[in-house]
Amino acid sequence: MDNQVRILLISNDYNRSEELILQLNTDNAVIQAITSNEVAREVSRVTPHIVLVHAYDGNAATELIQYIQQELAENFPPIFIYLADQQNFSLLRNLLREGMQDYFVLPEELDSLNERLQQAVHAVTEQLTSKKETIATEHALKKRKGRIHSFYSGKGGVGKTLLSTLYAQTVKLESTADVLFIDLNIQYGGAETFLGVDRIRSYAELLPVMDELNESHIRNVAVKEPYSKLDLLLSPQDAEIEERMTDEHITRLLRTCSRAYDIVIVDIPSYMDAKTFSALEESEIIHYVMTLDTPSITLFKRVQDLFTRLRLDTEDRLQVVMNRLERSNELLPSDVNEFISFSIAAKIREDKKGVLPSINKGEPLRKEIKEKKLPAISKQVRKWVVSQLK
Ligand SMILES: Nc1ncnc2c1ncn2[C@@H]1O[C@H](COP(=O)(O)OP(=O)(O)OP(=O)(O)O)[C@@H](O)[C@H]1O
Ligand SMILES: [Mg+2]
Repeated sequence: MDNQVRILLISNDYNRSEELILQLNTDNAVIQAITSNEVAREVSRVTPHIVLVHAYDGNAATELIQYIQQELAENFPPIFIYLADQQNFSLLRNLLREGMQDYFVLPEELDSLNERLQQAVHAVTEQLTSKKETIATEHALKKRKGRIHSFYSGKGGVGKTLLSTLYAQTVKLESTADVLFIDLNIQYGGAETFLGVDRIRSYAELLPVMDELNESHIRNVAVKEPYSKLDLLLSPQDAEIEERMTDEHITRLLRTCSRAYDIVIVDIPSYMDAKTFSALEESEIIHYVMTLDTPSITLFKRVQDLFTRLRLDTEDRLQVVMNRLERSNELLPSDVNEFISFSIAAKIREDKKGVLPSINKGEPLRKEIKEKKLPAISKQVRKWVVSQLK
């Protein structure tokens, strides 16, 4: 019994809970279903390793998690997974804060749930057999919540699209993470030219399903970059779609993507509107791209003021990337320190020889893990990405 993985399903809907027991893949584990009235009695008796909470409303779910965490404080910290019958982003956000490790909308995400469940059962089994119960499972098992990295600059033409596409390919090639790139330039787009792919599909196809957006919708419209196998959500390049997409759609899109992928890299257009703002708000890291010239520096100061007025928190979030550095630059990166309190996370040199021929041939700047003749810019971005992945 002691080496058995125990799953507890808490649901007040008797029929759904019976149905779930049949649908869930509980190989190598035992599952028991109870209602909320039975929680006080059963939790310390069962001492579950995995707790599935079905369709509780916000406050009740939060209280439930806190109660179980307290009851099991001396034991193996359980993994909490929330099962919802419909999408609810604010609830999800609160639950993640309370220590819920994962959230699935059923029935659409049943396959992902089963995959996650097996992964959790496997990890618990390993811990049980190695008797390392004290190691916090939270860290080992937490499905890496998707991190959103966005590329932004108040100034156009500074290299956001070039750097974000190359960064995304590099993360994909240099790690095992599941990576998605999104081109949020809804009207003009164009990231595909840097990636050498055809725009056979775009996220315009997601508009009709925005209200019930889930992981499989995203995966269905994502285009694969053939070399790195990076997933891409390409721009519709359509002014009418641009008008129909709201800032709420952007928030929903990014949240769903970050649940489906380990890392989401977003190319954000320079003009500031509600959509750009929502995308920045959702970003865990904002790579602010700038060039070493006065207009770029002045604009950065204006953007910072704007962020303050909009109450967009930039601390620990905004990282400056200097691009297109050349010997002939009149200013030096150190001159910028005077104006900018943020640390400079990367300095990328101008690479005419590397960039132009690739783009003109319709080839991406990164193609495989071990490439002999890597353009200088790709080497610099690799160094930057590897230091960030550590
Ligand atoms: N480090 C670099 N070396 C050489 N060329 C570069 C470099 N960075 C950017 N470029 C070139 O500068 C041009 C503008 O870059 P890019 O389109 O990525 O800028 P952007 O910030 O996305 O512009 P927009 O605001 O129009 O979307 C491109 O032709 C790109 O190839
Ligand atoms: Mg661009």
